[in-house]
Amino acid sequence: MNKGKKRSAAVLSTILLASSFSVVAPPLAQPVAAAENKVVHPSAKAHDQKVIARVSQERMFADASYLADTIGPRVTGTETEQQAAEFIWERLTSLGYEVETQEFSIPDKGVGHLHTSDDNEVLITIPAGSGGTSDAGITAPLYDANLGKAEDFTDEAKGKIALISRGELTFAEKVQNAVEAGAIGVLIYNNVDALAPLNPSLGGTIFDIPVGGITKASGEALLQDVVAQNETVNFNVQLLKNVTSQNIIATRAPQKGDNHEIVHVSAHYDSVQFAPGASDNASGTAVALELARVLKSYPIDKEVRFVFVGAEEIGLLGSKYYAENLSEDELKRSIANFNMDMVGTSWENASAIYMNTIDGKANIVSDTALATAERIGTPSELILYQRGASDHQSFYDVGIPAVNFIRREPGTAALEPYYHTPQDTMEYLSAERLKEAGDLVGASIYSLIRK
Ligand code: BES
Ligand code: ZN
Repeated sequence: MNKGKKRSAAVLSTILLASSFSVVAPPLAQPVAAAENKVVHPSAKAHDQKVIARVSQERMFADASYLADTIGPRVTGTETEQQAAEFIWERLTSLGYEVETQEFSIPDKGVGHLHTSDDNEVLITIPAGSGGTSDAGITAPLYDANLGKAEDFTDEAKGKIALISRGELTFAEKVQNAVEAGAIGVLIYNNVDALAPLNPSLGGTIFDIPVGGITKASGEALLQDVVAQNETVNFNVQLLKNVTSQNIIATRAPQKGDNHEIVHVSAHYDSVQFAPGASDNASGTAVALELARVLKSYPIDKEVRFVFVGAEEIGLLGSKYYAENLSEDELKRSIANFNMDMVGTSWENASAIYMNTIDGKANIVSDTALATAERIGTPSELILYQRGASDHQSFYDVGIPAVNFIRREPGTAALEPYYHTPQDTMEYLSAERLKEAGDLVGASIYSLIRK
């Protein structure tokens, strides 16, 4: 076999795939042709330029697209979260890093799907205490059980999935009544309008049948399209037990010595259910991957760690596990955490880069970023703000100065309207804003770790 021929065929098919916008193979960690030597700010130093000249917005956009489009929603503990972890692991390894996979367990949880017989997906939330189904789920007609009182059920409910409105009784009482009437599943719909599906707490009771919460609009649509037409739905709940998530950690230390200060760069790669998580947080992941590539080649006198964390969306579990497992010695040497979460939305109002700190005070990370922004001429305003709710909290909790870089609307601190919705897609991600974040955070980190 002619090796050269084989390779050129592979390259050609990659190009063809890319140009038809259906890239299925992970983007390669190889140089792209277009250099991005744009306008150089007069006060940018040579060390800033070394970073800025190499941070590629095309590369970051392609990586974010792989995570958000090709993989899609990356819910903690599911296969897609793991696929994202593998993609990150392979990239970092191919860049020449020493890469560690740090596994940790997460609480049991149910993942649910609800489909109508004409294959529409209805957004659903599975509460703790719900029963599970087989892999195929249950396919059954719906029974309109109004508020789910005992008298709302007749013999007709047997073998059906009870559709119950929120109100008057507790959720657990409604489910108990459905169980007693022989229903094989329960869907509870909201009685007020909301975008996200209802999250009905079962108050610690554990049921054998699957239970899910849906929106008011979904409940009303099911009454019209399924109950009235005698159609069926498919309700699938997989109970995840003994589930794990993982952090992927790439480390680079100076060649000599073993007592260097450590700078931790972090980004979570998981998403919430139904959200492709382009902004939250394929954006931060893609920027951190690019900085790992760019900062690989230069001499450094501090240790740098790129920490890609899982399970952020269920309570910062990955970063908490990472931070709490740092040794005394590592903690002593840790000087900074640059956390990137939602750094690339194209939502116009989010014109500022917020630097969220837990105590609202400046620290070495925010000071470094401000000085860097000034030198390199970062176009967006930088705003110091008090806010947790991302992985910088976990670093702060173990005493490491930390900042979450996040785009928001100045004044209101509002996030883009697509946040945690199925609309958090590549359509609303800006390559220019990824580049701005990459330049700012990259040049900041390099100004700290460079030799
Ligand atoms: N990407 C967001 C960041 C964020 C920070 C959103 C502050 C809103 C405010 C993050 O992934 C997130 O959604 N965080 C959760 C809390 C977390 C502890 C599960 C949130 O804010 O609801
Ligand atoms: Zn997030």
